[in-house]
Amino acid sequence: MNVIITGASKGIGYAMAKRLTEIQDVRLYLIARSEKLLLQLKKDCLELNPDAEIVTVPFDMTNLLKNEWPENIDCKHIDILINNAGLLLNKNFENLNTDEIIGMATVNFVAPSLLIQKSLSKMGGEHPTHIINISSMGSYQGSVKFPGLSIYSASKAALSVLTECLSVELKEKNIFVNSLALGAVQTEMLRAAFPDYQAPLSPDEMAEFIVDFAINGYKYFNGKILPVSLSTP
Ligand SMILES: NC(=O)c1ccc[n+]([C@@H]2O[C@H](COP(=O)([O-])OP(=O)(O)OC[C@H]3O[C@@H](n4cnc5c(N)ncnc54)[C@H](OP(=O)(O)O)[C@@H]3O)[C@@H](O)[C@H]2O)c1
Repeated sequence: MNVIITGASKGIGYAMAKRLTEIQDVRLYLIARSEKLLLQLKKDCLELNPDAEIVTVPFDMTNLLKNEWPENIDCKHIDILINNAGLLLNKNFENLNTDEIIGMATVNFVAPSLLIQKSLSKMGGEHPTHIINISSMGSYQGSVKFPGLSIYSASKAALSVLTECLSVELKEKNIFVNSLALGAVQTEMLRAAFPDYQAPLSPDEMAEFIVDFAINGYKYFNGKILPVSLSTP
């Protein structure tokens, strides 16, 4: 099984990579900017499953906008793509500068869109592909909103709506697309945004659910935005 995980160097992405290698024979493509953290993750994964094939892909997702492509993604077919890399700056709307707005819109929406588009030739056909777009409860329609998260939440909402649209366009190709709107998980991102808050879930706990959903969820869901949350936020 060939799996791509973006944002694998920390938090939920790191935990998902470990969980996948533990339970499945996989060839994993792990994308993030920090090569050092990806190499540590590779070591951790190989300790859990010495037969796993781990390809570290040090790559800045924003470079997709310059038509750059992570060359070492060399598999013929992608079984699972988890668009997990994300950027959150907790700052009131009126104080965000243009670069910050574009930065969040790029990492959370434009780059995952381009990654999907440029990967389509390796997806679906005889074997299904499941694309999972990691979104946020803050972007879920009708959910409680918090000051400082406007562009983050709006860019995640765009990713979720893309999910609904692509599920229709791609279903004939045997490609399934779902979005998980996550609630709070105790990671660096959450600590930076809500320093005094203790999340009810660890990255390992959330990873267990997402990995299971990535492997099996496409049999039951397509084009869905599913809230995965025990808490507010
Ligand atoms: N934690 C929560 O409570 C929570 C709640 C709702 C949704 N989420 C979503 O869940 C996902 C994972 O979040 P997390 O809490 O695990 O965050 P995290 O600990 O901050 O990890 C974010 C990951 O994204 C990568 N990343 C960021 N910018 C990148 C770029 N330009 N190119 C490539 N990789 C990039 C980071 O790696 P490098 O820095 O090495 O590039 C890191 O591996 C995100 O999409 C987040 O929005 C999290």
